[in-house]
Amino acid sequence: MIVKDKNFIPYLNEEEIQKKIKKLASSINTDYKETKPLFIAILNGSFMFASDLFKEIKLECEISFMKLSSYSEMTSTNNIRELIGINENVFNRDVIIIEDIVDTGRTIKNVLDQFKDRGVKSVEVVSLLIKPEALINPVKIKYVGFEIPNKFVVGYGLDYDGFGRNSKSIYQLKS
Ligand code: IMP
Ligand code: MG
Repeated sequence: MIVKDKNFIPYLNEEEIQKKIKKLASSINTDYKETKPLFIAILNGSFMFASDLFKEIKLECEISFMKLSSYSEMTSTNNIRELIGINENVFNRDVIIIEDIVDTGRTIKNVLDQFKDRGVKSVEVVSLLIKPEALINPVKIKYVGFEIPNKFVVGYGLDYDGFGRNSKSIYQLKS
């Protein structure tokens, strides 16, 4: 598949992704029994994952969205901008952050610190993908879909410079 000027090859298919999402949801359903968690999906990348995961959550719960931006084309930058914030009062809530991918961990560290400062009861992260080799910030991701090598991926909501989000599977940059 070509996205803009780069070639990508199939990496994770729809079936693998959906199977993993059911597993992640099942763990969350068990761990959060008796609570009313607030899910916060980090836009744009996590919109498909958040939608599929949320459909599998059987708890009494809420969802809201935050829009952040740290990436320019293919590199993570230090400069994380909050483009849309959330209105919900998160004090004393059990918050679950939904991310598409944790790369350097900068974005998620920033988000976790913000929520801790706002007096949440608990905050955990569910990320479809994580690149352990790229991680430079010490963050604990409780629910991880797939650990992947440090190669750029697109599809299923993930983009290359805005393009390539519209697929049911995930593709890896051809090297
Ligand atoms: P971090 O702050 O370096 O962990 O970057 C996290 C964000 O960068 C993710 O939420 C994605 O939006 C984006 N990102 C990181 N790696 C990739 C990738 O391989 N493909 C597409 N987006 C990525
Ligand atoms: Mg993202």
